[in-house]
Amino acid sequence: MVPRAAPVVRSSGTIAAVGVIGLGRFGLEHVRTLAGLRVVPVAVADPDPARRAAAAAVATGTRTYASAEQMLAAEQLHAVTVATQASEHLRLARLAVRAGVRVLVEKPIVASADDLAQLAELDPGLVVPGHLLRFCHAYRWLEEIVSTGRIGDLTGIVAQRSRDRTHLEYGEPDPLLLTQIHDCDLALWLDPSMPREVMTIGHSSSSVQFDDVYTHVLTGSGTRWSLRADFGLPAGTGPCDLLTVYGTHGTASVEVGRQQGIGRWLGRDGQAQRRWHAPHEQALEAELASFVDAPAPSGDDTAGDGTAGDDTAKDAGATLAEAITVTRTMLAARSSLSAAETIDVAVDPAEAGGSDSVQWPTVPS
Ligand SMILES: NC(=O)c1ccc[n+]([C@@H]2O[C@H](COP(=O)([O-])OP(=O)(O)OC[C@H]3O[C@@H](n4cnc5c(N)ncnc54)[C@H](O)[C@@H]3O)[C@@H](O)[C@H]2O)c1
Repeated sequence: MVPRAAPVVRSSGTIAAVGVIGLGRFGLEHVRTLAGLRVVPVAVADPDPARRAAAAAVATGTRTYASAEQMLAAEQLHAVTVATQASEHLRLARLAVRAGVRVLVEKPIVASADDLAQLAELDPGLVVPGHLLRFCHAYRWLEEIVSTGRIGDLTGIVAQRSRDRTHLEYGEPDPLLLTQIHDCDLALWLDPSMPREVMTIGHSSSSVQFDDVYTHVLTGSGTRWSLRADFGLPAGTGPCDLLTVYGTHGTASVEVGRQQGIGRWLGRDGQAQRRWHAPHEQALEAELASFVDAPAPSGDDTAGDGTAGDDTAKDAGATLAEAITVTRTMLAARSSLSAAETIDVAVDPAEAGGSDSVQWPTVPS
């Protein structure tokens, strides 16, 4: 148990007052991680009293509320994280934005095309997507290999991500928005080319679920992503994840399990290998630290050093425009899976929140 500390001073010199909405499996990880950062959440919200009690036990002194509405009305918060089911994400993000509070929304940021269109209308300066793996040491190493040109021009990405069968309990019809979305986000990060066509096929071992899916993405710059995800591992095992990036001058890959990870680069100008112990450890910590530490959005940056904020958020994690692209691609994959056809995902950039942070392809007519 971590007692609630006196107001936490961020590196910008301002005070962090953070709330967590949704205290299930991952929301409690938010609470625990924030407590570890000594940015103990001042308030948490969940309609389930047992969940509120669990959060209060993780960070004593935290004020608990049965709803986000009550919490936002009673507290002066700088930031909230949303870790509820995706069907609540849009509504809760909107509530936070209306209250002028920065909000980190867990992946998938939403789970339907309608919600995605409405989320795109929210202030991108206030809404931060929770795409955690960009903060994992192993993937950061891979990104550095790629962005420093050590595999030449990127030509393709192949990923596989396996989760155990307990993931079927989430009730999703397939692993796309829960699991494959991680690789779609990593692919967009490593290869900022806009997805143009998406084709997904799946396999089912029961009558209602696709428990493995294969997605092929053709991007506007002609690169290809081939992503596989499944819920097929025996309960309690895994994860077992592999991501390989191909370029004109070499390849780089990262293999990540719970206990260890290994990275390999083989290029025209050299080669390297890296190992990590517990490669996912500290990713959530780094993500939440970056989120909490960003300057306040509404000009109340009392330390007066607002210059770092936007850049920090952009450098460290996914932008809202990127998360919209990733989610749109996974929703297209779901449509492709049910319709058994290739889906065209080339759209007008204005629909993705108007950001210019992602390069949109010129699509030949
Ligand atoms: N980035 C990652 O690696 C990662 C890992 C796990 C989960 N997640 C995401 O985190 C989110 C939560 O996942 P989970 O496994 O913790 O789910 P969960 O079902 O265990 O918990 C959801 C919690 O939200 C609460 N809730 C529902 N509606 C609410 C509302 N309106 N206000 C407040 N609380 C509400 C529920 O009572 C429940 O306690 C999902 O979007 C999931 O995809 C991300």
